[in-house]
Amino acid sequence: MQDDQPTKSTNIVRVDHKVSPLDRWRLNGHTGGIMWFTGLSASGKSTLAVRLEERLHRKGMQAYVLDGDNLRHGLNADLGFSPEDRTENIRRVGETALLMAEAGFVVISAFISPYRADRDRIRERSKGNFHEIFVSAPISVCEARDPKGLYKKARAGMITDFTGISAPYEEPLDPEMIIDTASTDVEGCVDQLVEFALVQFALESFDSEPDPADLYREPGSD
Ligand code: ADX
Repeated sequence: MQDDQPTKSTNIVRVDHKVSPLDRWRLNGHTGGIMWFTGLSASGKSTLAVRLEERLHRKGMQAYVLDGDNLRHGLNADLGFSPEDRTENIRRVGETALLMAEAGFVVISAFISPYRADRDRIRERSKGNFHEIFVSAPISVCEARDPKGLYKKARAGMITDFTGISAPYEEPLDPEMIIDTASTDVEGCVDQLVEFALVQFALESFDSEPDPADLYREPGSD
């Protein structure tokens, strides 16, 4: 268990599954894992995520999008956009993504996730099945797109703590992939993502039975 994520409960004992990750992967025909999209609002995360989900589904893969705007209506309905709330938002959705990846899904997460430390924490807990994808566009481009009119409101002072305007965004230092949505059209970006997913989640990449304890999360953590 990580020091920064202590368990409050006592007297809890882990239950081991009788279905291994490999059993699930064989059933699905691919491995599970996380494609973690990060980027500014209007950089293209949600658009690309749902298109990628559709393309992978058509190829017979178990893919599912976790999206910031959607989860803030339910699981994270109690959270706002303060630094503490964003960190808790990403902690919860990260844990959800880890569980879903362990269940065999290709999880496509679309959250601004502005803090490096929050993203790195999920990477550390994922045991190598976390792929950080920087959905990149200059703020000027995002602001010109402004599909929800939020940049306009932020500039007018109607939204406080708005990422890129009055709240920070920490770019990934070493992402597995950079998707440049300012210079590549949607179809071109989705093609790159599909190609990446097909390689990363190929069952054939495992030629021997992995030890379940080596997969996904730190032993003893849940
Ligand atoms: S995160 O920073 O905690 O990762 P998340 O991805 O869940 O954010 O939600 C971002 C979405 O919330 C944006 O796409 C936008 O539609 C909306 N939003 C509302 N207020 C803000 C704000 N202050 N900063 C950024 N996004 C906001």
